[in-house]
Amino acid sequence: MKALVYHGPGERAWDAVPDPVIVDATDVIVRIDSSTICGTDLHILKGDVAAVTDGRVLGHEAVGTVTAVGAAVTGFAEGDRVLVPAITRCGRCAYCQRGMPSHCQTVGGIGWIFGHLIDGTQAEAVRVPYADTSLYKVPESVTDEQAIFLADSLPTGYEVGVLAGRVRPGHTVAVVGAGAVGLSAILTTGLWGASRVIAVDTNKFRLDKAREFGATDAVEAGDSAVADVKAMTDGLGVDVAIEAVGYPETLRTAAALVRPGGTVANVGVHGVPVELPMHELWIQNVTLTMGLVDTVSIPTLLTMVASGKIPSEKMGTHRFTFDRIGEAYDVFADAAANSALKVVITP
Ligand SMILES: NC(=O)c1ccc[n+]([C@@H]2O[C@H](COP(=O)([O-])OP(=O)(O)OC[C@H]3O[C@@H](n4cnc5c(N)ncnc54)[C@H](O)[C@@H]3O)[C@@H](O)[C@H]2O)c1
Ligand SMILES: [Zn+2]
Ligand SMILES: [Zn+2]
Repeated sequence: MKALVYHGPGERAWDAVPDPVIVDATDVIVRIDSSTICGTDLHILKGDVAAVTDGRVLGHEAVGTVTAVGAAVTGFAEGDRVLVPAITRCGRCAYCQRGMPSHCQTVGGIGWIFGHLIDGTQAEAVRVPYADTSLYKVPESVTDEQAIFLADSLPTGYEVGVLAGRVRPGHTVAVVGAGAVGLSAILTTGLWGASRVIAVDTNKFRLDKAREFGATDAVEAGDSAVADVKAMTDGLGVDVAIEAVGYPETLRTAAALVRPGGTVANVGVHGVPVELPMHELWIQNVTLTMGLVDTVSIPTLLTMVASGKIPSEKMGTHRFTFDRIGEAYDVFADAAANSALKVVITP
């Protein structure tokens, strides 16, 4: 088969590689019908993720069709249309049992294994370990292009942003960074009754998208952003500030926006240490949350997509066939110049 293979920092190629085969009885093989690229793949290509080594097939998001089933798999059969999420779970370890498969100890010490510790989903097919406890059947009424964004960005914005930030009815929420993840948070704050959702971004296209996704206000990031957002509240700041960029300054912005007793929910992946004004924050009774997504909200989100409550298909702005995956990467890597959010890659 063909697959997008990492060959060290800055190097990737659409290579011929061996077809995946069943290794463990709990595996299935999935033919990829739809895949996409995550910001994390760009981090990997920069060489930021040391665990990813030369020869690894990238990608951790897919919708596909089961083509082979291991002897121990009971929940899936050949022909099933499935969502392959970013997180794999054994279902048995202590972390899986407490609903935190992001730290499944059985699959490699961390639930994110596709395109990281094992070959991933930017390929014609993928081997899926622990299929029974990891895969989701896609309801007939949900299209591939709606389901694909539930593999990672939507659950991330929802779980690590909205749920961790404890958004509640009447809250004012600021979302710093309106990329796929920030927009996913914006798209799902309404589920918890936020009354005002303020998007903060440097990119005008993203701010326009944020309004389309349900933000009530859009603020251009810059020197006056904190004052602008605070002026939209009673002066004290927002109840929940969600950070969805991953830079020291954007986390500091989120911390500056939150009111006493509020929550800063950090979603961004940070590459360097961040200094926060703890000497000012401690007396504000601020909660700071962070974490790797568990993707355990997928069943809820699938239901909401199926019922039309979450228009997840809005996330896809560009489409490419597999043989043009290099172009897909180029467009996604320069998303601002290309007015891109998520790219959809199909056979
Ligand atoms: N915690 C997790 O489990 C998890 C999972 C997936 C992704 N992430 C992380 O979430 C973050 C967002 O992911 P994404 O795919 O939406 O990325 P993205 O690059 O598409 O979006 C980032 C957005 O931030 C904006 N931005 C850049 N600089 C800014 C600034 N100074 N102020 C305000 N906005 C600014 C950009 O214009 C863009 O719209 C990344 O750090 C990603 O690695 C975390
Ligand atoms: Zn991802
Ligand atoms: Zn586990």
